[in-house]
Amino acid sequence: MEGLQIPPTSLHQRSGSDFWTWEERYASPRRRPRRGPSAWLLTHADRLPGGRALDVATGEGRNALFLARRGFEVTGVDRSPTALRTARARAREEGLELELHLADLEACKLPAGPFDVVVVMRYLQRSLFEPLGRALAPGGVLLYESFTRDYLKYGPRNPEHLLRPGELRQAFRDLEILAYRETEDPERREARASLLARKPLKP
Ligand SMILES: C[S@@+](CC[C@H](N)C(=O)[O-])C[C@H]1O[C@@H](n2cnc3c(N)ncnc32)[C@H](O)[C@@H]1O
Repeated sequence: MEGLQIPPTSLHQRSGSDFWTWEERYASPRRRPRRGPSAWLLTHADRLPGGRALDVATGEGRNALFLARRGFEVTGVDRSPTALRTARARAREEGLELELHLADLEACKLPAGPFDVVVVMRYLQRSLFEPLGRALAPGGVLLYESFTRDYLKYGPRNPEHLLRPGELRQAFRDLEILAYRETEDPERREARASLLARKPLKP
């Protein structure tokens, strides 16, 4: 795809049901994309330092675009080509720039940092916890939100894809935790953990 940076290994490793689930979802004519940024990001936007931002599993780019509008130099990474095409088209519509990487994060490294802000919304990959901390610049801020095991009340899911109580806070205990919460929304039938944390200026 023109304009997307594709690491050489990634395209061969995009197999598995989850890839096709997301690809099909993004490609469906019935899809109504989420447009506004995540509420957790919106709530804490004024606490973020400026500079370079990384949006991990960026999807159609709602959070990446929000950050780009606020002057960040934004890199997004996702393994869905359809989602990244949408993100790129939206950026063009608004005259914004996004650096988009098509990559399977289970198989490829994160884009090269350091980043002043790292955002991970509605995506859980435990093997990324350590690399995410390393990708942050000193004083850089991580916003991470994903679903918890309380989500199981609302339907069958693979519990391995859901956070255990306190898991996110524990995973980033080496960072300064600025805000953390575990919430349930019975109306939307969702349960999630949300973290805002800062990398210390000195190790
Ligand atoms: C629930 S969506 C969240 C998208 C975005 N963060 C948001 O909040 O709108 C999860 C995203 O993770 C991406 N994803 C799933 N597995 C991935 C992987 N192994 N590597 C890269 N992206 C992946 C999917 O393509 C999808 O865009």
